[in-house]
Amino acid sequence: MQKLIDPWGSGLLEDYEKIVKDFGLEVFNSKSFLEPNRIMRRNVVFAGRDLARIADAIKHKKKFYALSGIMPTNDRIHFGNKMVIENLAYFQKHGAKTIVAIADLEAAAVRGVSLAEARKRALEFHIPAYIALGLNPKKTVFYFQSDHRDSTRIAFEAAQKITLNEFRATYGVADPSRIMSALTQIGDIVFPQLEERMPGIIPVGIDQEPHIRLTRDFVSRTRSSFNFFQVSSIYHKYTPALNGELKMSKSKPESCIDLPEDPKSACAKIKRALTGGRDTLEEHRKLGAVIEKDMVFELLKQHLIEDDKELQEIYDEYKGGRMTSGELKQIACDKTTVFMKRLNEGIEDARRLVKAKELNFIS
Ligand code: TRP
Repeated sequence: MQKLIDPWGSGLLEDYEKIVKDFGLEVFNSKSFLEPNRIMRRNVVFAGRDLARIADAIKHKKKFYALSGIMPTNDRIHFGNKMVIENLAYFQKHGAKTIVAIADLEAAAVRGVSLAEARKRALEFHIPAYIALGLNPKKTVFYFQSDHRDSTRIAFEAAQKITLNEFRATYGVADPSRIMSALTQIGDIVFPQLEERMPGIIPVGIDQEPHIRLTRDFVSRTRSSFNFFQVSSIYHKYTPALNGELKMSKSKPESCIDLPEDPKSACAKIKRALTGGRDTLEEHRKLGAVIEKDMVFELLKQHLIEDDKELQEIYDEYKGGRMTSGELKQIACDKTTVFMKRLNEGIEDARRLVKAKELNFIS
């Protein structure tokens, strides 16, 4: 049976290795990329498509672009958005022309958020948050799908190149809102090449893989007209929920930390998280922690500790039973507090840039 990933669903993906196999992805190897970022070094980034083309562009300083998008649906973002930004920022630092699509059309079509509301949220929160999390405000180009002629134009051409059956085989469903959104996303992904043909990389969560596949089919089918470079993609794993489930999700607020979130409430959640600590202190000292099961360590590893040596020291102490899970939680709580404070300050600063119209918007 055809395997499906539903980009609009909240279903869990059990096994990343299996995903790589089922969808014929490339396994990500951080050694092929210059100065890999934290999530690349730690295998949180796990797969992609046509990665060598981008590694090569970085190495030989050739032109390429990095593009991703966000639906301004909620009034907070999550760790998955943070990873998208970190990867975008990585490519930006290594020479990519960097573009962020505000997917207001998609938010209207699949989430029922009005375009006016989506715009307001994006300007007040999502764009400032993206800058606060590491995008260079001077070098990043933003646009709203609803303002952007090129994505829509390409969407209509893409409508010619895909059948309803293919759509259904890719997504499992084929309702008008999803079709419109997916075709617009194809436009988002390839439009930078209308101006100049060049490789592009799309950092996204694995839930967006079907859109990438559809886009790549579109690119192959329009060789004789558009002749775009095939697009590359790069995928990160989910940040697991604090209770050990595969993905943090708003539907389980006690196991999900929002960005931003009040540090007190975040710390309270961390204190109740699933850890790999043993039942008694005596046992813990003797056997050490089971790190693979520890959601607090995972949070430190994925998000809160930049320095590899610092992380390794914590790993050794905890695994050796010299550090307790209570102590580990305290470290995570302290780091979270600092992180949220910086994030809030960064958002405030970036809001000023939005108000002063200092960002680059295209239409
Ligand atoms: N569909 C994406 C989401 O659900 C948003 C998006 C729109 C996007 N256009 C894009 C992502 C282009 C990557 C590239 O969040």
